[in-house]
This record gives sequence, structure tokens and C-alpha cells, in this order.
Amino acid sequence: MEKTAAAPQVSFPEPNALEVFVMVFFGNLLSQFYQEYVDRLDLTGSERVLELGPAAGSSTRHLAKRLLKGGGSVTAVDISRVYIQAARKRLRKLPNIQWVHGDICTLNIANNSFDAGFICFVVHDIPSSDRAQVMQSFAAKLAPGAKLFIREPLRFIPMDELRQTLQASGLTETSWLVKEIKTQGPVYEGIYTKPGGSR
Ligand SMILES: C[S@@+](CC[C@H](N)C(=O)[O-])C[C@H]1O[C@@H](n2cnc3c(N)ncnc32)[C@H](O)[C@@H]1O
Repeated sequence: MEKTAAAPQVSFPEPNALEVFVMVFFGNLLSQFYQEYVDRLDLTGSERVLELGPAAGSSTRHLAKRLLKGGGSVTAVDISRVYIQAARKRLRKLPNIQWVHGDICTLNIANNSFDAGFICFVVHDIPSSDRAQVMQSFAAKLAPGAKLFIREPLRFIPMDELRQTLQASGLTETSWLVKEIKTQGPVYEGIYTKPGGSR
């Protein structure tokens, strides 16, 4: 199912065909790493997972596969119509993905409705002035006790700003690390939880 939202609050340029091709190409090449990021959520299989900014769906694929047997599902939200269409086509064989086109800040998605969240290389790409609002909107949709995995390149967003933005959105950092990656520089990976709940 694909939903379309009201006018976005955050603006984002659509990718061209070459950019989509490159995103798919690297997604396939680095598939094993995407799987490792998904593993960090320790999913049991029955969760409802919210992913922000899936682009071509390289993480979404692993999330959906992990949730397929247990009856879980992924809701993948992207502001780019082009990426949503490309990812939807690429992963058409996985029935437990709901593709949602729109800005997470203005989409009509119920609050407290997801057991886990996933964000890979998204927040750094959003203008600094919009980051707090995007993270607050995303965090509101997670249920109390939900876990979030987030991964961001520190070349494009200072670690203090990233952590403060997440904390200000009501999430608590439970573990983190910084990896030095040749092609990406230092990369922050964090696990956050939304306080409350019994998970
Ligand atoms: C660098 S790409 C993410 C790449 C992808 N997660 C991966 O690891 O392959 C950033 C994505 O975030 C999406 N995005 C940016 N702002 C958004 C917003 N406010 N709501 C939903 N998606 C957004 C963009 O359209 C883009 O697809």
C-alpha cells in the first residue's frame, strides 16, 4: 500500500535516474553491512518497525525479511516519490512493507504505534534547522519502550548536535560507538529507547 501525504514541511530534491542506480548498486554491494545494522535491533520478528528515509530500500529489505515469519512489518517513510517508487518495485516480493510517501513531519501516522525504529544516513542530509522537528515527529510515532537504531556520518553532522537532537526528541541513548570507515570517515551508531513501556 502506498500513501501520499499533504505538502511537505521539509523540502527535498528528487534524485535523478543515475542517483537511484548508484543507491541500488551500493545497497547491493554493501548488503551484508545493512544486515548487520538491522541485527542491532534484536528483533523477535513480530514487531512493527518504522524506518525513516529508506531511499532505495537497502535496509528495508533486511528488516522485512527478518519480520516475515513472525508476522512483523516495516513502514518505510520517504519524502521522495522517486525513491519510494524505485524501492517498492525493487522489493515487490516482500509483502510486509508499507511504503509511505511523504514528510514524516506532516504524515498522518498514529503516535506511539511502532515497536522499533530504524534510521540509516538520513538526519545528516536534512537541513540543520529542520532536524529537531523531523526527529520529534519520528520519536512521537514510536511506542513507549521502543528501540531505535540510528547510524549517521559525523563528517556531516557533529556528534553533539546529533545526540542532543535525539535526546530532545524524548529518546534515551542506551549504547553508542563511533567507527572509522575509510570511505565515510567517522560514523556514529547509537541505540536509543523511548522511556516507558515494558519492552
Ligand atoms: C541519504 S538518503 C538515505 C539512504 C538510506 N537510508 C540508505 O542507507 O541506503 C536520505 C533519505 O531521507 C529521505 N528524507 C529526508 N527528509 C525526510 C523527511 N522529512 N521525511 C521522510 N524522508 C525524508 C530522503 O528522501 C532520502 O531518501
